[in-house]
Amino acid sequence: MITHHAGQRTDRPGADSGGTMILVTGATGTIGTEAVRLLAARGLPVRALVRDISRAPQDGSWRGAELAVGDFDRTDTLDAAARGADTLLLISPSVPAQEIAVIDSAVRQGVRHLVKITNHRATADSPVDRRRDHARIEAHLRASGLPFTLLAPNLLMQNLFLVAPAIRQTGEFAMSTGEGFFGMVDARDVSAAAAAVAAAPAGHAGRTYLLTGPELVGYADVAAELTRALGRAIAYRRLTPDRHRELMVRAGLPEAVAASNAQVFALIAEGDAAWRSEDVAALTGSAPRTLRAFVTDHADAFRAQG
Ligand SMILES: NC(=O)c1ccc[n+]([C@@H]2O[C@H](COP(=O)([O-])OP(=O)(O)OC[C@H]3O[C@@H](n4cnc5c(N)ncnc54)[C@H](OP(=O)(O)O)[C@@H]3O)[C@@H](O)[C@H]2O)c1
Repeated sequence: MITHHAGQRTDRPGADSGGTMILVTGATGTIGTEAVRLLAARGLPVRALVRDISRAPQDGSWRGAELAVGDFDRTDTLDAAARGADTLLLISPSVPAQEIAVIDSAVRQGVRHLVKITNHRATADSPVDRRRDHARIEAHLRASGLPFTLLAPNLLMQNLFLVAPAIRQTGEFAMSTGEGFFGMVDARDVSAAAAAVAAAPAGHAGRTYLLTGPELVGYADVAAELTRALGRAIAYRRLTPDRHRELMVRAGLPEAVAASNAQVFALIAEGDAAWRSEDVAALTGSAPRTLRAFVTDHADAFRAQG
């Protein structure tokens, strides 16, 4: 494997690390980027699996982290990345064959603990395919014998960036969750919880943590917080699930993904995501960020141009 340190390059992965090596997959994604940053900032040996090295942050925020170039569809690259790692933080788009390949590599390479991002409602008989996918992966993980910890975030506040273009252009966003509430969590708090568990996994084996924000909110609250932060009226337009699915397909989402999203939104309207826990604070020592804090931090992303 060729690995890269921030700015320098080595072909001795983990050879000069002082402690246990933590491998983070999906490192360039929403949760992974911040998890790598936090682990590196604590001076912990961390290796980021990236499929495209140019997607790694160039601002020095990963200083001290190793980069391993790899792809979930190429077992040789997964084996190389997992070699010498003690702990693996598994983040991915959760395609079962890919996560199962990562788990199998971890077992082959002697990884001692795996931390997986999953879904709170992952069951084998879920009506939602991505939840059945997580359940399948969890079953494989249990059967592998590898000690593991599951982290189940509620809806990520960062999902709001998907509707940011509509908000900027039209002052409204459309959803099909009705008046359903959710324990929306800032991905930065998910990253912090994941980093805390990965840094000291022993006490967390066999545990599942539910990662939520501090309050239950709905999209009417999102609209109100955006209105407050932007000083401009932002409206939440309610759609039926069918209409929402049609619009998502028209916006370019594959039919199956749009159908699955619409199914989840309909469940949320019925209260499926109205759950909250204290696990973020218990793991990180800090209260999770509020929706107001998220909107304030990212107001520019939602502000009309010009
Ligand atoms: N969004 C939510 O509200 C929510 C709620 C609960 C749970 N979750 C779970 O959170 C997880 C997703 O986390 P996230 O939002 O941080 O993910 P994300 O932002 O979508 O990032 C996905 C990461 O996986 C990498 N990746 C994709 N295909 C790859 C491949 N073939 N080989 C190697 N790397 C690959 C991407 O790399 P590139 O940068 O190169 O594309 C990226 O780093 C999923 O398991 C999801 O079910 C999400």
